Amino acid sequence: MQIDLSGRVVLVTGAGRGIGRTIAQSFRREGATVVGLDRDPEALAELREESLADLALNCDITDPVQVREAIAMVDEQFGRLDVLINNAGINAEGPLESFDPALWDQVFAVNVRGVLNTCQAAIPLMKRQGAGRIINAASFAAIIPSVDAAAYGASKAAVVQMTRVLASELGPWGITVNAYAPGMIPTAMNGFAELEDAAASTKLDQLSIRRWGLPEDVANLCLFLAGDLSGYITGALLDVSGGKFATQDPGAASRG
Ligand code: NAI
Repeated sequence: MQIDLSGRVVLVTGAGRGIGRTIAQSFRREGATVVGLDRDPEALAELREESLADLALNCDITDPVQVREAIAMVDEQFGRLDVLINNAGINAEGPLESFDPALWDQVFAVNVRGVLNTCQAAIPLMKRQGAGRIINAASFAAIIPSVDAAAYGASKAAVVQMTRVLASELGPWGITVNAYAPGMIPTAMNGFAELEDAAASTKLDQLSIRRWGLPEDVANLCLFLAGDLSGYITGALLDVSGGKFATQDPGAASRG
């Protein structure tokens, strides 16, 4: 056991696959009671079969009614909610000039409105307890956006600003709010795992630690942010990107 989270109730959005699934698994390993939300019923069924969550709920976070119902169920079953991890997110790419406005709205509905929905439903429980942790998935795209990724980058920048404002609004109730910025973690969301060697090498040149990120790298940070060791950290954006662009050309170190 790395960080004892026994007795803590943790809700993870987008727990069905990718980084969220690993976060759920890691928190269970540390003794927490884990509630996983996802809108993908098959992924939820796997989560249940593999016992990665104590409760796995079908919930689309863009719908405030579904979110309120899910959090009411958490309150009913466990009587508290200690940690909210806003992991669910989507990506959509294309040049701004021709970007489909409906797709733009979809990205913001999940990445921004989804976070608002879960926070609005969870905050009253946390205020009642006089304690809580909110941990938001931002992205390196919130720090340096990429060509063709304006919707994603802008939505994740919005998450960072929401994090900072919430940190101050909720500080008096003993609730901390932080965001993290992963760099490049091969999952279904991106094509990193399928890149040819040369293209992969060019991408890895952006990193100071020259390997793809692992879902566990993010899960470990979430464990720290959820536990007692991080009680005085709030309103922060923590970079868990392996030193992406820590210098202008990190790859220079491995080229010699
Ligand atoms: P993923 O696409 O593998 O998994 C996302 C999960 O969220 C899926 O299970 C999906 O069903 C669920 N989801 C999507 N929309 C939902 C909704 N409206 N309601 C409920 N569940 C929903 O994504 P991945 O790569 O695991 O990313 C997780 C988070 O980390 C996202 O917020 C992403 O933006 C962020 N991130 C990921 C990076 C990476 O390199 N993989 C880099 C930077 C940030």
